[in-house]
Amino acid sequence: MPVRQLSEAVVNRIAAGEVVERPASVVKELVENALDAGAHRIDVLTDGGGCRLIRVTDDGEGMTRADLELAVERHATSKLENDDLLSIRTLGFRGEALPSIGAAARMTITTRRFSEPHAWSITVEAGEKSAVKPAGLSQGTTVEVRDLFYATPARLKFLKTDRSEAEAVRDVVRRLAMSRPDVSFTLAGEDRAPVTWGAAESDQIARLGDVLGADFRVNAIAIDAEREGVRVTGFAGLPTLSRANSLGQYLFVNGRPVRDKLLFGAVRAAYADYLPRDRHPLLALFVTLDAREVDVNVHPAKTEVRFRDSTLVRGLIVRALKDALAREGQRAATTGGSATIATFRPATAPRRGAYDWRRSPARPVGLVPMPGGATVGFAEAAQATFDVGGPAADAAVARFEPAADQIDRPLGAARAQLHETYIVAQTRDGLVIVDQHAAHERIVYERMKAAIEKSGVARQILLIPEIVELDEADAARLAARADELAHFGLIIETFGPGAVAVRETPSLLGELDVRGLVNDLAEHIAEWNDSLPLERRLMHVASTMACHGSVRAGRRLKPDEMNALLREMESVPNSGQCNHGRPTYVELKLTDIERLFGRR
Ligand SMILES: Nc1ncnc2c1ncn2[C@@H]1O[C@H](COP(=O)(O)OP(=O)(O)OP(=O)(O)O)[C@@H](O)[C@H]1O
Ligand SMILES: [Mg+2]
Repeated sequence: MPVRQLSEAVVNRIAAGEVVERPASVVKELVENALDAGAHRIDVLTDGGGCRLIRVTDDGEGMTRADLELAVERHATSKLENDDLLSIRTLGFRGEALPSIGAAARMTITTRRFSEPHAWSITVEAGEKSAVKPAGLSQGTTVEVRDLFYATPARLKFLKTDRSEAEAVRDVVRRLAMSRPDVSFTLAGEDRAPVTWGAAESDQIARLGDVLGADFRVNAIAIDAEREGVRVTGFAGLPTLSRANSLGQYLFVNGRPVRDKLLFGAVRAAYADYLPRDRHPLLALFVTLDAREVDVNVHPAKTEVRFRDSTLVRGLIVRALKDALAREGQRAATTGGSATIATFRPATAPRRGAYDWRRSPARPVGLVPMPGGATVGFAEAAQATFDVGGPAADAAVARFEPAADQIDRPLGAARAQLHETYIVAQTRDGLVIVDQHAAHERIVYERMKAAIEKSGVARQILLIPEIVELDEADAARLAARADELAHFGLIIETFGPGAVAVRETPSLLGELDVRGLVNDLAEHIAEWNDSLPLERRLMHVASTMACHGSVRAGRRLKPDEMNALLREMESVPNSGQCNHGRPTYVELKLTDIERLFGRR
């Protein structure tokens, strides 16, 4: 067949395939256009998962008649100043979204710019443009898209159920809503319960709480760090708030939601110490930098970016997250605490009106309700471990009044050990329940880590050095990091251009698949520029050893031992969760307890 120029309609359909993958991509493009138009309020409506109908209404600047006519043409945009692709400040810039949507569906745009006497509207069906007609609309723009992919039926087959398409739409709107707390959003339609996120000028955590849930709001740490003109802000969930997948990680570059491997990798590295491989934190991070330092023109969907200095960005994120986690390491998620409260409540909350227990002298004292409704005599348990005589339960409180300095410590004064597993401590304004095994495990692990950091890792010499063949670039990259690897107990040397010789390995790792480790390292260094696999393996061993060397649940502790453990938890970093990301303690505030007993 001879070479020929494709018709505009075919070209548009091809482009549409890249830009409009599913209903959610249409919603993304339309909402981004609304944001670029300076909207303060954006309403999204979908039906049939967005396949039957998508309508996006904004109160932005709108378009003139001439703009509208051009906007649906391919490669027509108002956003590229001086044709400068190097400093893009808007979400759109390709001039492709509207013609692509128009090529795949029936699209009607109604819009009014202030300067125009009235609104105008245009319809594009399967790439066929109608004439521009006068229309009624007071301000802004409404884009209605019906029967998506009716013009490209091949794509229809790839769509998932309406329900999962509706879910994908929701995710897109959530992401954009997170990046712009100053804009109010609504999302409605037959597919869903309507949601409204009201605008709150620059109150980021409020919007994140609205979108990600109240749990996130209370269990997130603020992040704010800057280096060489790159800033990262946002909120990172405590490790105890982890998930089984990374879908709860929202990353933004200059306000643009992205799914970037480099950023995900940085998050993984930062939490490596706190979470096992199969748990993922919840977070929303916003990277801002000079538009010239980042290329957003990587993919038609504009969800990937390239940083000019990716090492800088990655390093900054890892550092910012690690610092924040270390700073707040003693804090465990309160989720456990409130769940505990919820368990307590039905079992123990007095039925109002049953009798006026507030005035009754027989108010329960010294009794700790346990989940499931059982009650444990506080004083009895205390006697068992505190070894003080005196029977009466109601005397317990006075008898064990702890030294003032202990009760003022964050984790309070140990008062009892229950079930030979939990330490109950009294604080100035509440009580703390510690899982003694989890707490001790974290302490042992942190100690081992500190020792490794201080004096390096003990090594064992291999009888015969192991030669590992790699490609030349990998071998060179590994050799360049020989010093750092030595610190972690791995001694390597170059061995010709495409191989390294491994002479010593970390004793901690014992018998080791040297080849596997070196290959992992080479791969990781090439991709992420750090030696995380080795560190991770060492830490894994350290944490396993910590786990086995720790105070087991089921061991009876003396009061001094309990208090010593509490004091150590306060001094050790990251003691709010064990190495598996579970909390090491839960705290109940007096106010919570009073609420349980109906005193508040
Ligand atoms: N909601 C809107 N309000 C005002 N103007 C709009 C709106 N949507 C689109 N436009 C105008 O139409 C033009 C074309 O929009 P389109 O989405 O096709 O391209 P773009 O946003 O410039 O680039 P991209 O293809 O990357 O999205 C925009 O540049 C803008 O001027
Ligand atoms: Mg656009």
